[in-house]
Parts: sequence; structure tokens; C-alpha cells
Amino acid sequence: MQHIRAIAIDGPAASGKSTIAKRVAKKLGYLYLDTGIMYRAVTLAAIVYAVNVDDEKAVNRLAESISIDIKPPSVDDNRQYDVILDGKDVTWDIRSPDVNANVSLVSSYAGVRKAMTARQREIGLHNPVVMVGRDIGTVVLPEADVKIYLDASVEERAWRRHREFDERGEGLHYDRILRTMQERDHFDSTRELAPLYAAPDAIIIDTTNLTIDEVTAQVMELVSQI
Ligand code: DC
Repeated sequence: MQHIRAIAIDGPAASGKSTIAKRVAKKLGYLYLDTGIMYRAVTLAAIVYAVNVDDEKAVNRLAESISIDIKPPSVDDNRQYDVILDGKDVTWDIRSPDVNANVSLVSSYAGVRKAMTARQREIGLHNPVVMVGRDIGTVVLPEADVKIYLDASVEERAWRRHREFDERGEGLHYDRILRTMQERDHFDSTRELAPLYAAPDAIIIDTTNLTIDEVTAQVMELVSQI
């Protein structure tokens, strides 16, 4: 049987994971999957369907019942893909400050993680994939052939997010972005289930002072060694 390859890229928000993973996936002809989208879609669903995000059982049930599709981009507005929640295009809605503020809580629920991890593993075991998240190398695909953990200082990551919002014409204060990011980092790395940390066999790359091209080259070099 042909050996299907999996590349796991984990790290905190705005460490460059999605940008790098997308480039690497394109070079290799692999599928690219950003698993954060799924947790964002569940969070948005809770907001839109008026499910109280503090009600763990209700959010867990919701995660089991919604449909989340990720498709090639149908609109030329800088998006990397279309995200479809129960038939509706929510590509930009899942990036809203409301979702940012609640996604850590929602993604800490066991039922939500179980439902999303099962969907992610199913994809990862049947496709050559570059999968991005917080727990890909540790929980979702511990058998991944290459594990990378991308990091950067929280200030640099907040600036990156600030620029992204700016480019979309949504001026958000840097300080607010920085604060939300610090809170999210803390929550994601101290939660009980599948917390954010580098797998012992992951290669850690600090992207603070590196360009996208430099990080991509480092990752491609690692991949070429497998
Ligand atoms: O990468 P992101 O900012 O889009 O992720 C959104 C949230 O989802 C983040 O706060 C943590 C959570 N997440 C997770 O718990 N596990 C993953 N594999 C991916 C994201």
C-alpha cells in the first residue's frame, strides 16, 4: 500500500501556521486543512443559533449536529477557502471578534473536541495532508511523518493579526488584539484536554524574525528528509 504522508503543523494564533502550511501543501500537492476553522465554525454556530457558550452539554450537542464544509475559494477576496456552515458561507464571519473571544472556551469542551478530532483524523488518514492546529502532532495525528511547531513572540503575532484586520478594512486596536491573544494563548496552553504544546518529536521554528519564504524553505527542507 502506498504510504500516505501527513505533516502536522501546530503553534499559537498567528504564528504563521496557515500561511506556511498552505504554501507547503501546494508545493507537495497535498491537501491543506486548517483545523481551527472547525472550532471557529462551532463557536459561530453557537452564537448564530443562540446556544449559550457556557452550556457545555448544549454546545457539545451542537458540534455533533452541524455540517462544516471546507471548499476551494469561490470568491476572489483574499480567502484561502470557503467555509460553509449548514449551507451558508461563513468564511469571514468565523474571524469576527465575537468568535475570537469565545472560541477558546468552546474548543475546551470534551464533546466538541471528540467530534472535531474524529472528523480531522478521518481526513488525515485518507489523504496526504498538511494539517494545522494546536494538537495535530500530539492528539489528532500522532503518527504524522513530520511534526513542526511554529512560534513567535506574542507582540509580533498581534501585529500580524492587526495587519490582517487592516487589510480587510476592519480597524481594530492593536492593544485589544494583543490582550485577546494573550488570554487565548494562556487558555489554550493550560486547558485540560489537548492543550497547546510542542510534541516531544516536533521541530520548533521561531518565526518572529523570519520571512514567510524563509520558514517555508525550512519546512520543505525537513519534509525532504523523510
Ligand atoms: O488557529 P485559530 O486561531 O484559527 O484557532 C482558533 C481556536 O481553536 C484556538 O483558540 C484554539 C482552537 N483550536 C484547537 O483547540 N485545536 C485545534 N486543532 C485548532 C484550533
